[in-house]
Amino acid sequence: MRVIIQPDAEAASRRAARFVADLIRKKPNCVLGLATGSTPLGTYRELVRMHKEEGLDFSCVTTFNLDEYVGLASVHPQSYRQFMQVNLFDHVNVVLTNTNVPDGRALDFETHCRQYEQKIKDCGGIDLQILGIGSDGHIAFNEPGSSLGSRTRLKTLASETIRDNARFFGGEDKVPRLAVTMGVGTILESRRCLLLAFGPHKAAAVRETVEGPVTAQVTASALQLHREVIGIFDEAAARLLVRRDYYADVEQAQSLLEAGQLRQLGIASQSGIK
Ligand code: PGA
Repeated sequence: MRVIIQPDAEAASRRAARFVADLIRKKPNCVLGLATGSTPLGTYRELVRMHKEEGLDFSCVTTFNLDEYVGLASVHPQSYRQFMQVNLFDHVNVVLTNTNVPDGRALDFETHCRQYEQKIKDCGGIDLQILGIGSDGHIAFNEPGSSLGSRTRLKTLASETIRDNARFFGGEDKVPRLAVTMGVGTILESRRCLLLAFGPHKAAAVRETVEGPVTAQVTASALQLHREVIGIFDEAAARLLVRRDYYADVEQAQSLLEAGQLRQLGIASQSGIK
């Protein structure tokens, strides 16, 4: 995993948005995997700014969201469909029919989940998946104990997640108990993942995700098996990482490489560094 540590969430979000924008410019019809929650908000704000000020063009982009609460209509203010409309889709030129969020009110979830997976495949797979981490180490709603090979399905929320999200619903008892979520296996099939975490309350989960063992008890740790994950953390979320110095060395080498200063790296031609 490539680890990029930024001084604060704002700088980290700008960095994340740059990865997304670079992809959209390189591949205008790319497929983005999107996340909700407080973590990606700064990234979405920056993407909206890039659209308005720099003409970043979403007109051919397709999106798939990770998850949705079960029981909430798409127009419910706390539904993830609403979150995406309010925080990104309504402010850029993405085509509404190219945006996909699981349906929390599907009549037949088994069929709906299968079709969601199929649609991702039909669109050519996800090029770049944005991810946050739950304080219990989950990615999407893959709570501790989820199979690392899991696919899109219904999932029961862990009490920690319900507690974390109670602030949006005005109380724990109002938080839905179930969600429909992409599985860990679904996420691992995306071509590239951007893993974001900000704040001291994420430090333990980041440490376990990046430097702990791969375990279903911390589903984000499965990302260690993925070939291209970029973790972008602020100082507070990265503070428990033991190999911070090494990650900084890698970033320095990467900057030299991107600046074409190959001789300083002792190499004669362009190649990637991990
Ligand atoms: P947050 O949630 O971004 O609101 O902290 C992240 C998550 O639960 O995946």
